[in-house]
Order: sequence, then structure tokens, then C-alpha cells
Amino acid sequence: MHPIPSALPDTPCYLNGNYGPLGEAKISVLDRGFIFGDGVYEVVPVYGGVPFCFEEHMARLDRSLAELKIANPLSHEDWLAIAARLIEASPPAERAAMQGVYIQVTRGVAPRDHAMPPGLVPTVFLMVNPIKPVSAEARARGVYCVSAPDFRWQKAHIKATSLLGAVLARQISVEAGAFETIMFRDDWLSEASSCNVWIVKNGRVFGPPRDTLVLAGIRFNIIERLCDAAGIPFDLRRIGRDEVFGADEVFLSSASKELVPVTKLDEETIGEGMPGPVCQALFAGYQEAKASQAAQAGSPSTPAEARAVTR
Ligand SMILES: Cc1ncc(COP(=O)(O)O)c(C=O)c1O
Repeated sequence: MHPIPSALPDTPCYLNGNYGPLGEAKISVLDRGFIFGDGVYEVVPVYGGVPFCFEEHMARLDRSLAELKIANPLSHEDWLAIAARLIEASPPAERAAMQGVYIQVTRGVAPRDHAMPPGLVPTVFLMVNPIKPVSAEARARGVYCVSAPDFRWQKAHIKATSLLGAVLARQISVEAGAFETIMFRDDWLSEASSCNVWIVKNGRVFGPPRDTLVLAGIRFNIIERLCDAAGIPFDLRRIGRDEVFGADEVFLSSASKELVPVTKLDEETIGEGMPGPVCQALFAGYQEAKASQAAQAGSPSTPAEARAVTR
């Protein structure tokens, strides 16, 4: 038996109404999240103790839960209060840097049967972890990615905990020494294993449509807003494989990676092989958006305020 790594047990978490160390949190083996991956999750980035775009993550949590026919067990205010209390309980050095609030809701505990039993009490879990930012070198040089067919299911728009397709896809890049795996369905761009993928051509930004085949990252809206503010045309439409390889720029987006330029895909150099001006401008705008939201919100993780929101 492998012991739980020693880094885990002290991390504070929330499970079904109780706060305690992660290493002591226990769920039933009959939890449908464990048995079927029958649950959804969210990862909200946190800067200097302030969750970024929390409401947009809550709206997506509502959409994911609705797809699974699970009623949201908590109000948005309750989710925020729990997150704030966990952020407050995290070590000050971690709070000063980038963190992620991980939220998971499963259908609950029931005898094993594929059919959805009515009246279950959902399992609710939250934890706050440090997020290691993308390295300065990767940002300066861009990253190498590999491509693969998108072999995941047809409901990729649900942020479901059943992530085996994403795990297998991510491992392809791990084994190739690459940063991410960029996937194509029938030669149309979908997304990477845990990031959205964007291309830039002639100064215009293109992303795949917000349909059921990709997860609409919270950065979809943010990138659109940043493009609008910078006067950069932004369009969502099907993007062919050739367009990706022939793009001036390709970049990834996600809560933990923010915006990352891709400068090599498989054996091909993308554009000039250096991070391009559009990605760099959008990344700068993203940093400003973070700073302005933190300034507006103040830090809810200072002890007095956090106690107020968790009361
Ligand atoms: C498959 C997939 N696509 C896209 C994203 C990016 O979404 P967001 O910007 O909300 O982090 C993620 C994030 O985990 C993901 O798992």
C-alpha cells in the first residue's frame, strides 16, 4: 500500500459540511463519483487570496450540474464563503501566490446501478491548492505540443469528473516530452487535454465554436473581452488542421496556465517559432484584468473578512 504523500494531510479541505485536513477526508466507496465518475468539478484561480471570475465559474458549475440533472446543493454565496474560509486557512506564502480552488460535486452515495436514483444527497468537496505558474522560460520561448485524434466522448462541454479521455490524451504529451496534447476531431480543431486552443491569422483570433465538443473555458469570454478592448477581431468557428499548422500564432488558455504561446506542434514550427504579438498583447491584458479584479475585490481572505463571509 502507498501512504498518502506527506504534503497532503495538512491541506485544509471541506467535505459535506465539515472542514478538516485533506488526509483525513473520507468518502464512501459507493459514492457515484468513485464508481462512475458521476460528478462535475470546477477549478477557480486565486490571486493574492482573491478568486478570479468566481461568478463565471459558478455559472458553468450550474450548467454542468444541470446536464447531470443534479440540483446545485449550495448557493453561489455559500460556495464563495467556503472557498474564502479555505483560502484563509492556507499558508500565507501560498495565499500570496497563485492558488486554485477545486470544487467537486458528485451525485452522492447509492447501491451500484447505472440508473440515477432519485433523492440522493450530493457529495460536496472543496480544497485549495497552490498552482505552479507556467515558467518564465516557457512564456518567453513558447511551448512544444503534440497533436492527437480527439478520442473523448461527445459531451466535452460538461466539466465532468469522468476524465479518462483527458488523462490518456495528456499522457501522450508527457511521453513525447511536450507541454500539451492538441486534439482534432475529424481534422477539426477541438481543444487540448486541459486547455482551450486558439489560433491567430492575419491579426485575427479564432477559436472553435462553443458547442458540445469542447469545454467552453472561462477564458473564452475573457479572451473575447480582451480582443474587443484591443480592437482585435475575434471569431468562433470550425478550424481545420491545416489552419492550425499554418497559423501565425497558436496559444493555449486555462485557469492554471492562463495564456501560453505554442511555437512548435509535432514537427512543425508555428509562425516565426517565437511567441507572437497577439498572444503577448492578450497575456498583458489578462494580467491587467487580474490586477483590476483584485483591486476591486480587496482581499476576502484577510482573517476578519473571511470570518465574516463564512459566518
Ligand atoms: C478540456 C478542457 N478544456 C478547456 C479548459 C480551460 O477551461 P478554463 O479556462 O475554464 O480553465 C480546461 C480546464 O481545465 C479543460 O479541462
